[in-house]
Amino acid sequence: MSEKNETNPGSSPSEKTFSPIEWRDDGLWLLDQTQLPGREVWLECDRPEVVAEAIRRLSVRGAPAIGVSAAYGLVVGLRGTPSEDLERRFEEVYELLATTRPTAVNLRWALDRGRRVFERHRGEGTEATVAALLEWAHGLHSADVETNRRMGAHGSALFHPGDRVLTHCNAGALATAGYGTAVGVITAGFDAGKVAQVWVDETRPLLQGSRLTAWELDRLGIPFRVVTDSSVGALMSREMVDRIVVGADRIAANGDTANKIGTYTVAVLAARHRVPFYVAAPTSTIDPDTATGNEIPIEVRDSDEVTRFHGVEVSPAAAEAQNFAFDVTPHELIAGIITEVGVLEPPYVDSIRDALGRAQEPTG
Ligand code: MRU
Repeated sequence: MSEKNETNPGSSPSEKTFSPIEWRDDGLWLLDQTQLPGREVWLECDRPEVVAEAIRRLSVRGAPAIGVSAAYGLVVGLRGTPSEDLERRFEEVYELLATTRPTAVNLRWALDRGRRVFERHRGEGTEATVAALLEWAHGLHSADVETNRRMGAHGSALFHPGDRVLTHCNAGALATAGYGTAVGVITAGFDAGKVAQVWVDETRPLLQGSRLTAWELDRLGIPFRVVTDSSVGALMSREMVDRIVVGADRIAANGDTANKIGTYTVAVLAARHRVPFYVAAPTSTIDPDTATGNEIPIEVRDSDEVTRFHGVEVSPAAAEAQNFAFDVTPHELIAGIITEVGVLEPPYVDSIRDALGRAQEPTG
């Protein structure tokens, strides 16, 4: 474990971005997000089991960040494997990482691309295979940041000067390899002089909004206010929200979008109050093999996350909670999907097919 401050000094918020994933001293380090905003602790992930556990307990979280961490997890997992055992070990590590979290499709997306790299190089022995996977993982890492910046450029065009923008959960640098998806779009909008203020939903039960998005916006110098999740309707009814931008964990072929629990509630209220509701996500979050939101697997997490808070019981000891980690927003409630290849508009079946055809595959 280590503690250090990662923000780059820069003049504009866009220049101040950072990555929660680092490859340094020939090893993988992840910023432990369970300890934010109180402490900045970095976890050294020297075994794939440590990477898997970090994903499972949300030390690293957010769909793109999970994908990039898993890519490095393959490298960590294959190192030192006798060449004759590579095949078996790859399947073991793949399975270990793939089964950590079910909803974020970027996890399988990254691991399946890692498999292709593995298959191309495994005949060259362990050292060459691991070197090829590491080069590919580095490529994925920097491509994700680049993708987010493109998304920011497309998305910022949607804002009007003075906009008060609401976001849910954390879809910032912390949830990606850097810069963020929804927060990246908001950052670009702020840099363009359009976003005046951000409403940050606290995001029960694990507070990704009030702990993480607020921490990021504070570092970036973007004005914000934290609100309870249940304030969203009141804010919109008082015309205090001009636009909403959220991230995504998986987008089905018809545009239905899974994101952090509570996103659907925000979208329904946005429709009622005619506030444009946007999803910002890279094309790697689109799953063309999932036809509609009904088929998206929704992670159910421990009851304790709801009934206890920081180790303190906030419900009677006998209480059991229903803890869906995500919900699905139907495509008809989404005004546009901001991707690195442009802002997709309805009908999403067509615009998504077209976007996937135009998206660039990372090399490896
Ligand atoms: O459970 P989490 O914290 O991993 O959930 C994260 C989200 O729901 C994000 O909005 C989503 O992954 C997009 S991150 C760019």
